[in-house]
Amino acid sequence: MASSTHPFLAACRRESTSYTPVWLMRQAGRYMEEYRKLRAQHGFLELCKRPDLATEITVTPVEKLGVDAAILFADILLILEPMGVGLEYSQGDGPVLHHPVRSGKDIDGLKDFKVETELSFVYEAVKKISQELNGKVPLIGFAGAPFTLASYLIEGGGSRNYVHTKKLIYNAPEAWKRLMERLAKLIGAYLNCQIAAGAQAVQIFDSWAGCLSPFDYEQFVQPYTKTVIDNVTPGVPVINFSTGTAGLLKHVRAAGGDVIGLDWRVNLDEGWAVIGHDVAVQGNLDPVALFTAPKEIKSRVAEILRRAGGRAGHIFNLGHGVLPESPVDHVIAMVDAVHELSAK
Ligand code: CP3
Repeated sequence: MASSTHPFLAACRRESTSYTPVWLMRQAGRYMEEYRKLRAQHGFLELCKRPDLATEITVTPVEKLGVDAAILFADILLILEPMGVGLEYSQGDGPVLHHPVRSGKDIDGLKDFKVETELSFVYEAVKKISQELNGKVPLIGFAGAPFTLASYLIEGGGSRNYVHTKKLIYNAPEAWKRLMERLAKLIGAYLNCQIAAGAQAVQIFDSWAGCLSPFDYEQFVQPYTKTVIDNVTPGVPVINFSTGTAGLLKHVRAAGGDVIGLDWRVNLDEGWAVIGHDVAVQGNLDPVALFTAPKEIKSRVAEILRRAGGRAGHIFNLGHGVLPESPVDHVIAMVDAVHELSAK
């Protein structure tokens, strides 16, 4: 099947499909033995920077799981490394930025760079993956959203309460604006380079936007996410993904995107009604459901499909990434259940 008419892209455009397309965030990762083997031999950044390895890691789950889209193997934090923040992925601890920014002065001291040249390994990987996929399924490119990337820059890693980030927003709104404008510009250019190299859709990850009040999201975040989305190469579907944003959905939708990600904390039909049926949705199985027996997984898949109501424009996914300990055969059972139960 030519990938331009593939169910995944058709669903992004809210065209009807013969079954509900499905892919999984973090479908390439530690739950897979193939990944763990490569990871034992190479650092995470090395895997990202070697187009041959990134290609292998991207394509393996497509073959093994039978999903309807591939997602580029990379990481949202790669775009921060050339700013001189000392990005490191330590085994088990998650990412660390050794030089976080905490003030307007720190922000203005971040290095300038060109995404076209500094991140060329990403575009090389996109090209190589596209060749390898050969139209079998579409390739999704991605980037972090301005807020989620800013939170890493400011906190220096993951965070529970985002105290440094919110302090900067509240105490130094002008510095925050400068940072967000700068990030939005970089992210937009980065996504368009991925598209030029062959990505057929892009997803924007605003994983941590759910820590914000609706007012703060609307005031300090949404305009910059909107800038990114508005500047994506026309005709390429954009998935606007976030988690914990059930109370912010109206505002998330206003930031834009052809497809809005819903996590499991909101019922799919209720979330879809809030954002409107003139946009597609992606989601929304709890990743922990994959630890239950295939029979239970199937009934949870059926429940989500029931809530989607056969409406065009539903892409099945988890509400967040596959967890590292998920049993591979359960992941396959989920993909099979989506295809079987949604077949028209
Ligand atoms: O989805 C995919 O299969 C594509 C690859 C991908 C990775 N990270 C690979 C990865 C994607 C799309 C991401 C996005 C990403 N990275 C997000 C947004 C999605 C989300 O989960 O909310 C975020 C917040 C990050 C930042 C990040 N990178 C964290 C928090 C961690 C460590 C914790 C974790 O979940 O592993 C990483 C490392 C990372 N990124 C790994 C992988 C496969 C594991 C690295 C390892 O092997 O040690």
